[in-house]
Parts: sequence; structure tokens; C-alpha cells
Amino acid sequence: QQDERESLYLVSEFANKYFQNILHKTDQGKSIGLGYFKERGFTEETIKKFDLGYSLDEWQAFTDEALKQGYKLEFLEKTGLTIVKEEKRFDRFKGRVMFPIKSMSGRVLGFGGRILITDKKAAKYVNSPESIIYHKSNVLYGIYHAKQSIAKEDNCYLVEGYTDVIQFHQTGIKNVVSSSGTALTSEQIRLINRLTKNITVLFDGDAAGLRASLRGIDLILEQGMNVKVCTFPEGEDPDSFARQNTLEELSLYLIENAKDFIQFKASVLYEESKHDPIKKAETIRDIVNSIAKIPDRIKKEIYIQECSKIMDISEEVLFSTLAQIDKKEF
Ligand code: CTP
Ligand code: MN
Ligand code: MN
Ligand code: MN
Ligand code: MN
Repeated sequence: QQDERESLYLVSEFANKYFQNILHKTDQGKSIGLGYFKERGFTEETIKKFDLGYSLDEWQAFTDEALKQGYKLEFLEKTGLTIVKEEKRFDRFKGRVMFPIKSMSGRVLGFGGRILITDKKAAKYVNSPESIIYHKSNVLYGIYHAKQSIAKEDNCYLVEGYTDVIQFHQTGIKNVVSSSGTALTSEQIRLINRLTKNITVLFDGDAAGLRASLRGIDLILEQGMNVKVCTFPEGEDPDSFARQNTLEELSLYLIENAKDFIQFKASVLYEESKHDPIKKAETIRDIVNSIAKIPDRIKKEIYIQECSKIMDISEEVLFSTLAQIDKKEF
């Protein structure tokens, strides 16, 4: 078992080197892959820092090279880098720019590969499947490059995508990680909890991003952590927003727009329908449900006070609602 894990790590590390080599040393890699990254505004330094790569648009270029170098088909298949179908072998990643996904200690666990031209026929991102070294629910993209900065800043920005992490680094903000497509999990939050108690959620400025933020809040509160949410203008994500702004502008935006979870919920759930009493009741119930997740009694009380002020409702009724929820849970 331990040997098998090690074999999968070695295959993944080989693939990481291979995809980088294709990007920097082949004509296809240079014109198409590097061209794409440059177009997105990534500098040479950024591309190297994140070990970005490119997979040739061929059926089994990677698999052939790996076998030639002595890597066993069994392990190529177990990492998902090679797909074996009726004795035929196919590369999982073809003609995509490659983002290696690393563990806290910097080992390559898997890859995300982005298609260059998005159309409806192919998935925008293809990712490595689960394996004995890659458990998606326990991994945060960018954690290796962010861990020191998260501890130092005592805050972690949580974004949706690979490119959001990378563009933030390039702009100068390093305490950032991504759940990369999978819905945020408690295990992922626990990884952050080892470094800081403070998370600022920065999801995309669209309906999906809003839904994901609302879902993430309770998971974070449950672990006794503090959560803020900062939204972006409609259609923007942290990558596109960072690209259009300087470090000073971005930092200021994050400070001015990060709301604690109560303000955030009040503004998205209630602000649009201010004069609808039923909507107001639902919003209050929703906020109290979140407050119920907080383990610390003192914080609970402080948030009840805040909710009372923001929603203009007595603390008394909020406390009794909280008591009802607590009773149901135990
Ligand atoms: N994702 C995925 N598979 C998809 C779409 C998205 O795995 N078909 C994951 C990727 O990790 C992606 C993240 O979800 O980075 C966020 O998705 P999205 O916002 O659609 O992509 P962006 O990161 O903004 O990528 P880009 O800017 O390249 O479009
Ligand atoms: Mn798993
Ligand atoms: Mn999105
Ligand atoms: Mn996005
Ligand atoms: Mn994007």
C-alpha cells in the first residue's frame, strides 16, 4: 500500500515535469499553451511558480513517453493520467493547459486541465479522478504556496478556481486557496483551521457563486471559525477583477466589501425585498440557523445582538428561536 502510494507520487511528479517541458520546449506548447497563458496575463515568473504546463493534442503522447521512461502502465492508470479501454491507451489530458494540484507539503496529487477554446462540446476543465493519493474533498488548490502567508496574515481568502488563486498571487495577495470545483467540504475547512481561524469567502459574482457562499458559511461557523464574504460585481470573478486592478485597489476593495456573515445574508436574502414581511421572517430564521452553528456562547450572543440591530427585531425573540433550534439538534 505504501509502495503503491509512492509509485503514484512518482508518476505524478514525472507528469508534472513532462507537461512543463511540453509547454516550454515544444512548438505546440510554446505557441498554443504559453500563448494562452500570456493572453490571460500570466507572467513567465507566475507560470514557473505554479508549474503550469501543456498536454499535446495527441492520443497517447504522454503515455508513450512515460512507458518509455519505465513507468508502469498500472500506475499510469491508477493516477488517471492514462485511460485504458479494450487494450487501447489514451491520455486523459489532450490539448489542455495544465494546473498541477499539490498537497500542503508540495507533492503533486493530480491535475486540472483547461481547454483553450470553450465551446459546448467539451468540458472546460478536466480533472484527475480520485485515487489513493488524491482525495478531492481533502485538498485545496494553492495551499502549498499559501500556507505561510495564511498564518502570517491570520486570514485565508477562499476562491472557486485555479486561475483566481494564480492571479491573486501575481497581484501580490498570497493567502488564497481554492476548493476547485468540488463543493466546499469540512475537511477542506479543517486544513485552513490549522493555519488561521479567519476565512474570507470570495466566490464568483454569479448565481452559482452566491449559492456556494451561502452553503460555505455554515460549514465554516461549525468549526468555530470566523467567516466574512466579499462579493464581486456581476460577471466578475477574483481573477478577472484582480487583473483589472492594482494591489492597492484590490486590497481596498476587499477591505471595503468584506461583510460579516450576518450583513452578507441580510443583504442578499432581504435587501431586495425590504418591504415583504414574509421574506423578512425567512431571512431572520436563516440567520439564526447559522448563528446556531457557532460553538462559542459569547460569540453566539454577540451575533444575536447584531442580528437584532440589523433586522430590527428584539433579542428576546431571537434567543428563544435559537433555543428551539438547539433543542431540535440535541
Ligand atoms: N471546474 C471544473 N470543471 C468544470 C468547471 C469548473 O472542475 N467543468 C472547477 C475548476 O477548478 C475551476 C472552478 O471550478 O477553476 C471554477 O469554475 P469557473 O468559475 O467556471 O472557472 P474559472 O476558474 O473562472 O476558469 P476560467 O477563468 O478559466 O474560465
Ligand atoms: Mn477519496
Ligand atoms: Mn464560477
Ligand atoms: Mn470563475
Ligand atoms: Mn475565471
